[in-house]
Amino acid sequence: MIDYSKALSRKARDIKPSGIRKFFDMLEGRKGVISLTVGQPDFDTPWHIRDAGIDSIADGHTFYTSNRGTPEMRQELAKYMERRFGLRYHPEDELLVTVGASEAIDLAIRATVDQGDEVIIPVPSFVCYGPLVEMAGGKPVFVESTEDEGFKLTPDKLKAALTDRTKLIVLPYPSNPTGVILEREELEALAEVILETNAVVLSDEIYAELTYGKKHCSIATLPGMRERTVVVNGFSKAYAMTGWRLGYSAAPAPITDAMFKIHQYGVMCAPTASQYAATEALRNGDSDIEMMKEEYDRRRKYLVRALNEIGLPCQKPEGAFYVFMKVGHYGLSSEEFCERLLEEQQVAIVPGNAFGECGEGYARLSYAYSLEHLKEAVKRMERFVRSLNK
Ligand SMILES: Cc1ncc(COP(=O)(O)O)c(C=O)c1O
Repeated sequence: MIDYSKALSRKARDIKPSGIRKFFDMLEGRKGVISLTVGQPDFDTPWHIRDAGIDSIADGHTFYTSNRGTPEMRQELAKYMERRFGLRYHPEDELLVTVGASEAIDLAIRATVDQGDEVIIPVPSFVCYGPLVEMAGGKPVFVESTEDEGFKLTPDKLKAALTDRTKLIVLPYPSNPTGVILEREELEALAEVILETNAVVLSDEIYAELTYGKKHCSIATLPGMRERTVVVNGFSKAYAMTGWRLGYSAAPAPITDAMFKIHQYGVMCAPTASQYAATEALRNGDSDIEMMKEEYDRRRKYLVRALNEIGLPCQKPEGAFYVFMKVGHYGLSSEEFCERLLEEQQVAIVPGNAFGECGEGYARLSYAYSLEHLKEAVKRMERFVRSLNK
């Protein structure tokens, strides 16, 4: 019989499963649960985008595309990035269409990290960066931030974490799970530190379209930063296209070329029908984004007010579609709080420590759910915290 403990690589064996997944698994088979766990839009992909994907299949576009992505898509992407964020990239050799932002993140890490190299990862943040760095042989250096610091990476903390082995700095803003954004002046202060190094920045801007009030600023637009930044973005969140698995990276040609080689060997090209759909989204999807964003904003305002009223304090998130609320003052760990909330009131949320140890004492709620759904969840959470207060 095969001995799997010997058959599998040490890295694959040792890597920890995602803390978010653990909570999804607990939901399986349960009835009557109100879940606020999932980080994906509850909207359907707009019809004109779906039609473009369907038509592409009907028209026989069922083959591999250019491995960098179709030329039309890259042209549209270049126009979109300039129109929406003031970012200028050459479609020929600086843009790469990938399988979700997820693949672009993996490529940026693998293209820059050698064995033992360090990657700075601000936490709390999305769960994939650390494990992907480990799989690439690198060492994740987690830089914690507290609520008092607004859950933001500060220049001082960044400076303290830098060593001569730092190859990559992840900037995960707007943030999943905190909803925090970094404004231009804050990015400028970080850039001042980064420009003293030879490190590359991986700027995960998947929530760039979903900011409320303040416009997203990409660090790649700051003086000196374009040459050392990989901007990552995708279609999952802004266009409600999670299942189409489409994202992209934008970076200077030497970095894009390195990422492209790995992409060619690993996946060849992103799904063809998805690229046709995404091209339509880039051409005619601005108003869809606005419509969905307005709805998220309504939910955000409701949820923040309601949670603060029932004794679950949270800051007002300025981006993405998550609220990171405090739960530690009830004397339970994040996991205990979430497990008991699930058992006693059938509401599922994600413990904050799934996003880094400094998320202990907090929990993440997604408001990519209908207002009705959110109101029912709040009612049940109120009952739960009342029972804890007794
Ligand atoms: C911060 C962040 N980056 C990347 C991703 C992955 O997105 P995609 O569906 O494009 O792979 C997610 C998904 O939740 C995310 O929250």
